[in-house]
Amino acid sequence: MLSFQKVVCVIVLAVIGMAGLGHSAAVQSRDTEATIIFEPTMYLVYPTDPKRFDSPTSQLEVQRSGNMSILENIAIFENIPATAKTCTLGWAQAAIAERTPFIVDGSGLLGAQQLPRIPEGQINWESIAPIVEEAVAQGDPLLHPDTTSWPDIKLEEKHIAGPVDCAEAIYLKLQVDYRNGDGFVYLGQDSKNGLTITVQG
Ligand SMILES: *[C@@H]1O[C@H](CO)[C@@H](O)[C@H](O)[C@H]1NC(C)=O
Repeated sequence: MLSFQKVVCVIVLAVIGMAGLGHSAAVQSRDTEATIIFEPTMYLVYPTDPKRFDSPTSQLEVQRSGNMSILENIAIFENIPATAKTCTLGWAQAAIAERTPFIVDGSGLLGAQQLPRIPEGQINWESIAPIVEEAVAQGDPLLHPDTTSWPDIKLEEKHIAGPVDCAEAIYLKLQVDYRNGDGFVYLGQDSKNGLTITVQG
């Protein structure tokens, strides 16, 4: 009787042990499935020149002067996996040998606003402004990545700005935030530098 109880006990422990192993393996594989997406399509938009339309560019380039936003960007990340559970906006700077041009003059505090969609046709300030107003009215997350002083750092760095809503396409508006005053930020983007969306799930 006693030895039978011992056997039962050992089997139960073995089952718990296996369940434990299975669980940690799943956690591990979830972690390794995090994907970092680089190189969004960028549009430059000009609040003081609303009709101006430029072809898409690769760099992040925003400017505020005289306490007026002069140059903002619309960033478009596409082909986000449908299985994505969490999507996080960030930005990366490669080690200096692989660094793209990165300039911050004055304040490098950015404001990033997720947008629910982009306009049909040309993306310029005139066409994007109503969508921005709608997004802000809905209280969508407004994130504040700060690039100030980071060009001086020669090491590779990955920065987290914060969570955004996952979608097949993630649209963001970027500007120099007014709270730290005027500034200009230029960050060339490639597969190791620039804005990122980290997808998990
Ligand atoms: C700069 O602009 C912001 C936002 O429009 C405003 O709240 C702030 O008072 C202005 N600052 C100065 C110094 O005019």
